[in-house]
Amino acid sequence: MHADIRAAFAQQGDWNRRLGAPFTARLCDRLGVVLDHGSATGRAVLGWPGDAFGDALMLRLTGGLNALVRAGALPGLAAHYPPNKAGDDAALDAALRAALSDDRLLLWLESAPQTNEVGRSGVLMPGLLTIAAATGLALELFELGASAGLNLRLDHYGYDLGGAVFGPADAPVRLAPDWQGPPPPAADVRIVARRGVDLAPIDVRDPAARDRLLAYVWPEQTARVARLEAALAAAAADPAPIDAGDAAAWVEAHVAPVDGRCGVVLHSIAFQYFPATTKARIAAHMTAQGALATATAPLAWLRYELEDASGALPTLRLTLWPGGEDRLLAHAHPHGASVQWL
Ligand SMILES: C[S@@+](CC[C@H](N)C(=O)[O-])C[C@H]1O[C@@H](n2cnc3c(N)ncnc32)[C@H](O)[C@@H]1O
Repeated sequence: MHADIRAAFAQQGDWNRRLGAPFTARLCDRLGVVLDHGSATGRAVLGWPGDAFGDALMLRLTGGLNALVRAGALPGLAAHYPPNKAGDDAALDAALRAALSDDRLLLWLESAPQTNEVGRSGVLMPGLLTIAAATGLALELFELGASAGLNLRLDHYGYDLGGAVFGPADAPVRLAPDWQGPPPPAADVRIVARRGVDLAPIDVRDPAARDRLLAYVWPEQTARVARLEAALAAAAADPAPIDAGDAAAWVEAHVAPVDGRCGVVLHSIAFQYFPATTKARIAAHMTAQGALATATAPLAWLRYELEDASGALPTLRLTLWPGGEDRLLAHAHPHGASVQWL
């Protein structure tokens, strides 16, 4: 079991290196070496009864360490965190051993990481442009797996999408993904209503909930950290409404064609986490309601999702009713860093 857990930390390190997080990669490498039974946290991690990857055990621990560093509670370890240099292995190992004796980390082992990646608005927005251009109508958004609802507020952000520059001049967040292909359609995206659902919504008005979300962003990815801080601060003053619950019953209760607007069900990197019955019920409801849609009461289903575990990039797909045509719009980096528009 211990060898497995140490190997899982090394494997997580490889993942983080590939995902452009070399500092967190190194933390995972060193944690795999320094964890021992001398601390309650070390015992809990090395004796983990479940699947370390399935439970995101390594990210629970790095999230907890990052949270304590961000809060100023581990100054010894903070000296090795960005923007400082991590230092040599011996110094980093000593700081990690000291940090692991902080029993506040045990709380972080109890729950899975939660994220809300604002960069994904840079992929969802060109999807909304496509819908607005095709229908000429205002949009009502229904987001599934909305987390803190930051991507439901995407019309508050500024954009440069393949040279198409738009958004409020005072936008708290500006998104300019590395763009390949033609620019997205030009259209006026007017959002007349928005609402989301999540099994465990994050209340952006709660400072502790905001800190928790920030703790799971890898600290060397400073642009993502800054973007999330800015989006959270803006959302705290004007949160998007998110209901708590499973997405299937919520879609069935809320989504139907309405004259004069286009209903848009959208989700990003969430569908893979839904149970099979939830996915099937959502698809069945969309097909049934799509059959009732008209040119003045259309329905759209916009999905920015990982299609399989092959390592291929997530896709952006759109089904638009009436008609129910399914279109592949783009391939995109999982955090929205790049978009290949088709
Ligand atoms: C990886 S997060 C993505 C959050 C957000 N869509 C984003 O792109 O940043 C997946 C979210 O799906 C939510 N979720 C998982 N299963 C769900 C379900 N059955 N119904 C509703 N939400 C669910 C989780 O709570 C989590 O907030």
